[in-house]
Amino acid sequence: MNNTQLYKDIQHTYAGLSPAEKKALKNATILITGACGFLGYYFLHFFRQTGRDLGVKKIIGLDNFMLGKPAWLHDFTDDSLFSIQTFDIISDAISAVPQAEEADFIIHMASIASPHFYRTYPIETLDANIWGLRRLFDFYSARSIKGFLFFSSSEVYGNPDPAFVPTAEDYCGHVSFTGPRACYDESKRLGETMCMLFAQQYAMPIGVARPFNNYGPGMKLHDKRVPADFALAVTEGRDLEILSDGAPTRTFCYVADAVAGYLKILLHGTYDYFNIGIETPEISIRTLAEIYAKAGQSLLKYKGSVRYAASADRHYLTDNPQRRCPDITKAKNILGYNPTITVEEGVTRFLQFICESDKI
Ligand SMILES: NC(=O)c1ccc[n+]([C@@H]2O[C@H](COP(=O)([O-])OP(=O)(O)OC[C@H]3O[C@@H](n4cnc5c(N)ncnc54)[C@H](O)[C@@H]3O)[C@@H](O)[C@H]2O)c1
Repeated sequence: MNNTQLYKDIQHTYAGLSPAEKKALKNATILITGACGFLGYYFLHFFRQTGRDLGVKKIIGLDNFMLGKPAWLHDFTDDSLFSIQTFDIISDAISAVPQAEEADFIIHMASIASPHFYRTYPIETLDANIWGLRRLFDFYSARSIKGFLFFSSSEVYGNPDPAFVPTAEDYCGHVSFTGPRACYDESKRLGETMCMLFAQQYAMPIGVARPFNNYGPGMKLHDKRVPADFALAVTEGRDLEILSDGAPTRTFCYVADAVAGYLKILLHGTYDYFNIGIETPEISIRTLAEIYAKAGQSLLKYKGSVRYAASADRHYLTDNPQRRCPDITKAKNILGYNPTITVEEGVTRFLQFICESDKI
């Protein structure tokens, strides 16, 4: 691994798994959809660094590359542990994928996550979360698998009533089903219903993850999510632009913590659903911009400042949640999930990773 920051991050994720979880990956074939996006980048690099020690047999990565093929993929072409293929989960035949039949674990991540891009491709987003998931269930419900992980989202909670922040898994949400984000939010919600039904009817070991605002290595700097926008501005020496009044609040969970949580859900072995994020600090977008500016000053002698601007996208703020903060008690108690990387440390690590990287 050439990137020392990524190497350290993956060591952190690896240390977050228990001996029993590591053992469960021995001889495993793992099929991952949406394998070449942000979280896919991190999963694939995680298995490249640790897969042979863990005894993993094969990683099958599927992606339709609808927003382009990343340059880092070249690093995987000659690695026999991996088979990465162009594949559309909405329309292509899973039975035609070599070794798909042998998969012990399935991770369904195919779905654009950036609000700008899922609003550009709303029907594709809905289809990947609903029909893509259904096609995987139709293929795997009759087979013997050890784990199935569906990537839902904290967006299933919509714009939560402040009385339910921090938000626990039993909050039913406050979601627009006809607004510009509905293609994403509602397809994740229906996807979760499908998970519950297939777990009941076919006794499938399905785990559902509800990620809360991840950031870090693998995030494409041009994919128009706030942590990526800020990282791009700092590395290009431009001012940090806030495209709202800066007041909405979030907690930001560094990918090295979050991926340990996702693997724990995958390996849990029985149906359940979990928030994966970090509980503190819940900060405004303004504060996040200031954290980026400060980290940029010490790492890159960044001299830009924070300013406000209007987005050219008229729906940029429509139905934007005012607060997003998870209650992660359930994942802590049942899975032993324990995120520790503060947002200040995570932003520094992310910028350090970008400085060392030439292929993101
Ligand atoms: N990153 C986060 O903070 C976050 C938060 C909430 C939920 N999630 C969920 O986690 C998953 C991964 O998120 P990400 O940040 O890596 O997203 P991403 O947008 O970076 O990557 C998604 C990948 O899925 C692929 N894809 C889309 N449609 C496909 C299809 N029909 N067939 C095959 N591939 C397809 C895309 O080409 C892309 O490579 C998504 O399901 C997302 O909704 C992520």
